[in-house]
Amino acid sequence: MANTHKQNVEASRDAIRAKIGGAKPKIAIILGSGLGGLAEKIENSVTIPYADLPGFPTLTVAGHVGAVVVGRLGGVDVLAFKGRKHFYETDDAYPLKTMIRTAKALGIETLFLSNAAGSLRDFMLPGSLMMILDHINYMGINPLVGPNDDDFGSRFSPMSDAWDPALRDKLMQTAQDEDITLHEGVYMAFRGPSFETPAEIRMARTMGADAVGMSSVPDCIIARHCGLRVVGCSCITNLGAGLSDEVLSHEHTLENAARGAADFERLVASFAGRL
Ligand code: HPA
Repeated sequence: MANTHKQNVEASRDAIRAKIGGAKPKIAIILGSGLGGLAEKIENSVTIPYADLPGFPTLTVAGHVGAVVVGRLGGVDVLAFKGRKHFYETDDAYPLKTMIRTAKALGIETLFLSNAAGSLRDFMLPGSLMMILDHINYMGINPLVGPNDDDFGSRFSPMSDAWDPALRDKLMQTAQDEDITLHEGVYMAFRGPSFETPAEIRMARTMGADAVGMSSVPDCIIARHCGLRVVGCSCITNLGAGLSDEVLSHEHTLENAARGAADFERLVASFAGRL
């Protein structure tokens, strides 16, 4: 018989534990598009391919190897997820649930989410970072639809403090101490994979968004459901469609994420060290 979700989470937890010795990661980090370089900054690291972890995603994009990286960052044990599946690739929330619930099963309490995003504000330029204050789920899906997994959380999850107020304060303080400019704003998730039209970008602004992207919101919802605290930031890679003359593409996203990556890596390392 196929494993239940809980069995997969427990088997993945045990497989990670068996590889990481006595390490006790305090924080899990989901690395967004173009931000995977942080994994190389993790010291004394152990890399565990998703293929060895039951229920983890199978990545299809050539050259993308999904892996969990555990080691030291900012003087504490951390766990990074390198690679994930977006909802423009699949309808299936299962692999993302397995990743996040495995972090919880390992005793981790905090999930740091990162993504590449388009800015709706002319003062938030490509290469800059925006701390996520709150989100708007405009994906047309919710990863918790379907029977509730009572093993992990209750049916109706409050989302009033989805992005943890105390952790947001800590992240902003970290940025100030490190002399990193950290904007703040509301992240609105579209499902993609096409970028938005200029009319959709105008709508997003009217609805109260400061940045748009195609990820992190399902991750946040799954994490809150199982009781993880969530904090995170967007790396701005472009102005939203119609706000500049740029033609958007994935290559453009990756190129510009590299401009914010150094600040991002410093910010996360210093933040982890304060937990
Ligand atoms: N829209 C959606 N997702 C994105 C964008 C954008 O402008 N830039 C990077 N990811």
